[in-house]
Amino acid sequence: MTAHHHASHAHAPSHAEPAPDLSPTEYWEQRYSGSERIWSGKVNATVASVVAELTPGTAIDLGCGEGGDVLWLAEQGWTALGLDISATAVGRARDEAAARGLDGASFEAVDLDAWQPEPGTVELVTANFFQSNVALDRTAILRRAMTALRPGGRLVTVSHAAPPSWAKEHPATMVSVQEEAVQLGTPASEWVIELAEERPRAATAPDGSAGEHRDAVLVLRRR
Ligand SMILES: C[S@@+](CC[C@H](N)C(=O)[O-])C[C@H]1O[C@@H](n2cnc3c(N)ncnc32)[C@H](O)[C@@H]1O
Repeated sequence: MTAHHHASHAHAPSHAEPAPDLSPTEYWEQRYSGSERIWSGKVNATVASVVAELTPGTAIDLGCGEGGDVLWLAEQGWTALGLDISATAVGRARDEAAARGLDGASFEAVDLDAWQPEPGTVELVTANFFQSNVALDRTAILRRAMTALRPGGRLVTVSHAAPPSWAKEHPATMVSVQEEAVQLGTPASEWVIELAEERPRAATAPDGSAGEHRDAVLVLRRR
């Protein structure tokens, strides 16, 4: 997605924010099934700029949503698997992969809280805006996902470091890139922090005025 999102569908009653006390499966299923596509379907520009430098191999995308980033990876020659808790989102992603004839893109509906990857099998793990307004054990999931990386493989995360500039408050948990690097517990003997920074990204507020997002970008390479 180009992460315009949260605000873009806040107005229409049919796209109302689901109740906050739902289980993650119910919450996300309602988010996706309550509307047509909720994200743009395009790769996130920050993801594209970081990953375009890498040699294609196999990849896993955590919380892939409607699959925009996985489809882009497959178009770049990656064999990419997108995982998401919402069966509706995964269905849309599969339909789009078929429509574009992308054999390299596949998708599975899974709760990543109960997921164990095959150790040492992929070159890339991505997690883009893998953040939630309801329960999500992000750090534990990322740490498990990191075991899937082969030596030399990379974890790339792009996250909201702050609510959009126009939002007074926002229910999702924000991610500071420095905190995340610490939480992921990446001893220098095993991991190289290739990138850890916050980047502003221009965006248009719901009222049409200029605003910005702050993206936290983290790239870790397994030695
Ligand atoms: C903010 S969206 C980002 C979607 C996509 N990565 C993008 O950049 O457009 C977060 C995604 O995480 C998924 N998600 C939340 N909790 C999850 C869980 N426990 N297991 C798998 N996916 C989960 C949601 O369904 C949602 O698609």
